[in-house]
Amino acid sequence: MQPYRFGIVGTGMIANKFAEAAKVLGDRMIVQAVSSRTLAKAQDFSDRHGIPDVYGSYEDMALATDIDVAYIATPHNFHLAHMELYAAHHKHILCEKPIVVNEAEATRLLQLSERYKIFIMEAYWSIFVPAFAKFQELFSLRGSDRWDFLRSEIGFSHPGDRGLRKVDPALAGGALLDVGVYNLMIAAEVFGYGFQITDVHTIKNEQGIDVFDAFTLDHGNGRKSYNICTVKGKMTNELIVFGPEGCLILKNFLGSQSVVEDRLGETPVEYQFPFLANGYEYEINHVCDCLDQGFLQSDQLPLAKSVKIIRAADVIRQRIGLKYGFEN
Ligand SMILES: NC(=O)c1ccc[n+]([C@@H]2O[C@H](COP(=O)([O-])OP(=O)(O)OC[C@H]3O[C@@H](n4cnc5c(N)ncnc54)[C@H](OP(=O)(O)O)[C@@H]3O)[C@@H](O)[C@H]2O)c1
Repeated sequence: MQPYRFGIVGTGMIANKFAEAAKVLGDRMIVQAVSSRTLAKAQDFSDRHGIPDVYGSYEDMALATDIDVAYIATPHNFHLAHMELYAAHHKHILCEKPIVVNEAEATRLLQLSERYKIFIMEAYWSIFVPAFAKFQELFSLRGSDRWDFLRSEIGFSHPGDRGLRKVDPALAGGALLDVGVYNLMIAAEVFGYGFQITDVHTIKNEQGIDVFDAFTLDHGNGRKSYNICTVKGKMTNELIVFGPEGCLILKNFLGSQSVVEDRLGETPVEYQFPFLANGYEYEINHVCDCLDQGFLQSDQLPLAKSVKIIRAADVIRQRIGLKYGFEN
């Protein structure tokens, strides 16, 4: 079978990470092309990663006939428009998180998927890494009803210009959409998607953008998750589930390589799963597996899950009074 041919949309931080990971998946996929709003940036990216085709606009790459999948790595508020562009040219889509920014866009996303019959998946790479599979295995093995609480925290500090996108209201900046969606996704993956949002707290900057959020989810049956996120500070980025018999820790849950099982009265055991590249390779491989099987959605991460997460983010944003200018 021929490798799937991917085209990258945008040349920022995560696009570089994608291109690096692709280098270990040569028999499954290749990065055929890269597109940028600026030809020189696309050329520079192509030189760095050895990518054959270069486009100075996203629209030009959408016309290419030798691309199977568009990987969309632009700021959140452009995701839907860029998905619409590539869907209209019958490209499958892997789109960065959050795949859309609100409920209204989620409705249009579902219509897009229905209309064009292409594969679409959100790029929540965290749930495809081997360490997360081990975490889930231990979670079930010990009895999935033995765990009462979950705590997740995620935060990065971004000195200099790198942090600007993350708090730019025009680019849907803020902790919730930048990293809080990871808290929501991981809590839902572990304790289930049927949660209610209970307590919500935020700290905003002078522009009214959330730089820190804390929220509690009630997952039913006495289970609760406590989640915090920030774009203004480095955190441990750990996910912990705990119950009377001990705890399970997924270290750096954004892209984990290690799970620790700490059972009452026993010596903690650490399981390690080093990445082949940077961790993104597992998600890309999953997309290829789905395409092999002719799926239009991922069996692990269908659009219904993505929509549930963005609806939850909408509820949290309503509670903290955060509406972007472009939503008026
Ligand atoms: N999965 C993950 O772990 C992860 C990590 C980080 C980010 N992300 C997601 O990936 C997306 C991109 O994040 P990033 O950190 O890579 O951002 P970034 O470094 O700022 O890059 C974004 C790219 O989007 C393009 N772009 C198009 N219109 C733009 C505009 N008006 N302003 C700025 N850039 C624009 C630019 O590429 P050109 O100039 O070449 O057109 C830019 O390089 C976000 O949605 C983010 O949530 C995911």
